[in-house]
Amino acid sequence: MSETTAPRFDLTGRVALVTGGSRGLGRSMAIGLAQAGADVIIASRNGEACVEFAAELADLTGRRTLGVGAHVGRWGALDALVETAYDEFGRVDVLVNNAGMSPLYDSVTDVSEELFDKVLGVNLKGPFRLTALIGSRMAEGTGGSIINITSAGAVHPKPHILPYAAAKAGLNALTVGFAHTFGPSVRVNAIMAGTFLTDVSKSWDADAFAQRAQAFAAKRGGEPEEIVGAALYLASDLSSYTTGSILTVDGGQP
Ligand SMILES: NC(=O)c1ccc[n+]([C@@H]2O[C@H](COP(=O)([O-])OP(=O)(O)OC[C@H]3O[C@@H](n4cnc5c(N)ncnc54)[C@H](OP(=O)(O)O)[C@@H]3O)[C@@H](O)[C@H]2O)c1
Repeated sequence: MSETTAPRFDLTGRVALVTGGSRGLGRSMAIGLAQAGADVIIASRNGEACVEFAAELADLTGRRTLGVGAHVGRWGALDALVETAYDEFGRVDVLVNNAGMSPLYDSVTDVSEELFDKVLGVNLKGPFRLTALIGSRMAEGTGGSIINITSAGAVHPKPHILPYAAAKAGLNALTVGFAHTFGPSVRVNAIMAGTFLTDVSKSWDADAFAQRAQAFAAKRGGEPEEIVGAALYLASDLSSYTTGSILTVDGGQP
């Protein structure tokens, strides 16, 4: 590599798999990855929505796309998702572990065992299994890039999101651990997201949020498209010396 052959954002010839790719941040990243040249597999629980969006994305970008229904908290579903991805595309070069959920509760004693297990299952157990399966195939093949979407809650665990915060903190730990497990050919990084205005923000009190956002350096929440630059950086060869890293994208949230 020299000054004139420095890597670029180009993902032509690569295959990306985005969990939770049908809505919110996952949808924006799927569009960004396809626009950068990647073929894209979109997975979420609602398979129909994934198929629909995959068709839209193919029309928009001319890339090959596939929508697949899969619940990331269930290992059997993830095994099937991986088989489908490799059967259809023969490879996965970029995995984005984006699917997540953070149900609110009034008091910690309201958190049932079922809810706790579900939050840990979707935000931590699923990404572990998918990274184990795809990371090992990447390492046996030509390498790849794995991106985990974690949350500022991991390092600022507020009282109303404790199981979620613990799961995302665990995902930060997996990010570093898997970078060592599958390095050097597979890079594993996290985007630690702050507050983005997706479906999750629809239930918020807008005025109270606007007030709270005055404490952010950016003085506002992020638009879903504003995560794409970080994802493309980590997906592409531009980040060839970045691995085991946790990149904060939060508009300067205290
Ligand atoms: N928005 C924020 O402020 C914010 C802040 C920090 C971190 N994050 C993280 O960023 C990621 C994306 O969040 P978002 O705001 O874009 O969420 P969102 O708008 O609610 O979208 C979530 C996506 O994940 C899918 N999903 C949910 N549960 C799933 C499951 N069990 N299996 C498979 N797919 C599932 C959903 O599709 P289906 O309903 O079809 O399954 C949807 O595509 C999450 O990991 C979240 O924790 C978000």
